Amino acid sequence: MIKSSDFGDEFLWGVAVAATQIEGAAAEQGKGPSIWDSFAAKSGKIKKGHKLDITCDFYHKYVEDIALVKLLGFKVFRFSISWSRILPLGKEETNPLGIRFYHNVIDECLSQGIVPYITLYHWDLPQALENEGGWTSFSINAAFNAFVSICALEYGDKVKNWIVLNEPFGYTSLGYMLGVHAPGKTGLSNFFPAVLHTALAQAEGGKILRAEVSNANIGTTYSCSEIVPYTQSENDILAAKRVDCLMNRLFIEPAQGLGFPTAGWDVLEKFQLEYGTWRLQERMKFDFDFIGLQNYFPLTVKYNAFIPVIQAWEVKAKSQRKPHTAMGWEINAESFYNIIKQFAAYPNVKNIMVTENGAAYHDKLVNGHVVDAERIEYFKLYLNAMLKAKQEGINITGYMAWTLMDNFEWAEGFNARFGLVHTDFKTLERTIKYSGYWWQEFLKN
Ligand code: BGC
Repeated sequence: MIKSSDFGDEFLWGVAVAATQIEGAAAEQGKGPSIWDSFAAKSGKIKKGHKLDITCDFYHKYVEDIALVKLLGFKVFRFSISWSRILPLGKEETNPLGIRFYHNVIDECLSQGIVPYITLYHWDLPQALENEGGWTSFSINAAFNAFVSICALEYGDKVKNWIVLNEPFGYTSLGYMLGVHAPGKTGLSNFFPAVLHTALAQAEGGKILRAEVSNANIGTTYSCSEIVPYTQSENDILAAKRVDCLMNRLFIEPAQGLGFPTAGWDVLEKFQLEYGTWRLQERMKFDFDFIGLQNYFPLTVKYNAFIPVIQAWEVKAKSQRKPHTAMGWEINAESFYNIIKQFAAYPNVKNIMVTENGAAYHDKLVNGHVVDAERIEYFKLYLNAMLKAKQEGINITGYMAWTLMDNFEWAEGFNARFGLVHTDFKTLERTIKYSGYWWQEFLKN
């Protein structure tokens, strides 16, 4: 039986959330609209047309919710700052009530003995900046840097743990290439500039925090997925390399000072030439104190000449033996172990924290109980895999479960439940699931 003490006394156990997914109060007390507010209002791309006005109402219920973090026994609470709550137009004029809100959240954490980890950007760009081109525009970097400075100066005395970006590949690919997330842009002509400005923002955000927050512990997060070729044919292996290059290597390598990877793929080589990215190698480099890894699924990839640009396609794992979560994501803890090892192999990765990991299931609240045995099994499997990597000498120092409570799951709306706590989206009542109680027990031992 796995125990939390197997990871050592210093290991940090936490739970993660993000502003857009839980706060609600989307237009209250001076908050400006974010791209997600607009996307939810207009795009027709959110399941069942769910909106962001209320979500979990964390804005008004943060005291109760931080009490839940404490009750479940977590030491760390990772949350994000809504940029347009602090700067309604993304730049220039600040919103004092928005700034106060995060002071309140931080103070509540500290008074409960919970360590806050702040994510600066978890996908909710102010709409006003998107109107100027968003991440595709070079002006985004100055705006982001100013936002980081404001947060560092405001909160840096109280908060030492910072995460610059949440999953840069997530928002650049889903939001600026595939158009299924906000702001709904598509194509390589949007994707590549968004990638470049994001890689710059990641490093420059880190440098600003380093200069302005004393004793800061600075990280950033990456989505990561083990990429497995369907067969050992040369075509499948090369297809898997291209996907790995995009999904795993694209943002960590510039931060490491290696520039953008290409894996010999002409599309990425052309991007490098067109944007002269080699000139920016130094600017994209930052020595992060920790790297946040977020893992949800592996991918099995097959060559397919009909798929434009990448010529690769996701297929079901060969064995078909692995079960899936309600998101249709393959449960495969071994792949979690493998991808941790892949990231740990970079020479400048000193410290890994798993900043998100978790699973959605079709939970049902019956007579006040949510018996989510599958989620408990999921966590056991993944924690065992992480323990194995740690025992083999990888410096993993923390783990944050995704997520505290059921919330707005982006394009899935409220239909995908990842929480340790059940949210009734009509009454806003919170009910601890069996997995929440499992964590409470786990963290005691
Ligand atoms: C994101 C979360 C999201 C989770 C589950 C991660 O990519 O950071 O915001 O809810 O995955 O999809």
